[in-house]
Amino acid sequence: MRVVIQKDYETMCRWAAEYIAAKINENRGDKPFVLGLPTGSSPLGVYKNLIEMNRSGRVSFKNVITFNMDEYVGLPREHDQSYWYFMWSNFFDHIDIPKENVHILNGMAEDPEAECAAYEAAIASFGGIDLFLGGIGVDGHIAFNEPYTSLTSRTGVRTLTSDTRIVNSRFFGGDPEKVPAKALSVGVGTVTDAREVMILISGHNKARALAETVEGGVSQRWTCSALQLHNAAIIACDEEACGELKVDTYKYFLDIEKNERI
Ligand code: GLP
Repeated sequence: MRVVIQKDYETMCRWAAEYIAAKINENRGDKPFVLGLPTGSSPLGVYKNLIEMNRSGRVSFKNVITFNMDEYVGLPREHDQSYWYFMWSNFFDHIDIPKENVHILNGMAEDPEAECAAYEAAIASFGGIDLFLGGIGVDGHIAFNEPYTSLTSRTGVRTLTSDTRIVNSRFFGGDPEKVPAKALSVGVGTVTDAREVMILISGHNKARALAETVEGGVSQRWTCSALQLHNAAIIACDEEACGELKVDTYKYFLDIEKNERI
């Protein structure tokens, strides 16, 4: 596992965007680059950087296929807190990606199980995900895989914990009851099947999650810890998120990353 420690949120986002753009640009040949994407506040700066890089001609998304991590159950696309709405307004509307290349789970599907099975099949039809970008919850969840979700789980229906609904209520007028109780989400296994995984971890409130991801044991209590078993996982984080790391862990990663550009 690589842990790339940046000074602050802005530099972390710039670094992550440079890395993603470099991977897209390295992709030669007929096969499109398949990119997994998250919502949340963590990736917003990455999306801003990628939009600028797209505008200045440094990266194009014409040959990129995207799969989003998750979507609330019961929110129509037009709802300003649906993840569909988030992705189009914060990213897809501002880049040169063809509409048909975008995949987002439909939280209004009449048959959610069928929707999730079709999503897994669609990912497989493109040969799997090349790079899955993700954020992390304060309880260590990746996508909506709350504590005690199986580390081999696939795309399916998830029940959100009260803690997550409280944290996400900041987008729903501060009322946890307004946050949907369920979501459709890729599984931990869906994420770790990607050829590369990059998780963004920023700020003091994610310090425990970062420590458990890197130093804790592999456990379904912290679903992020599954990344320890991945052979190409990157944690992109900022100084603030490092508060719970052991000093020698912190020094170790600064040392081995010091000569790496991306
Ligand atoms: C939600 C999303 C996750 C995201 C997490 C953290 O629960 N389902 O994919 O990583 O929020 O969000 P933020 O980046 O806003 O802290």
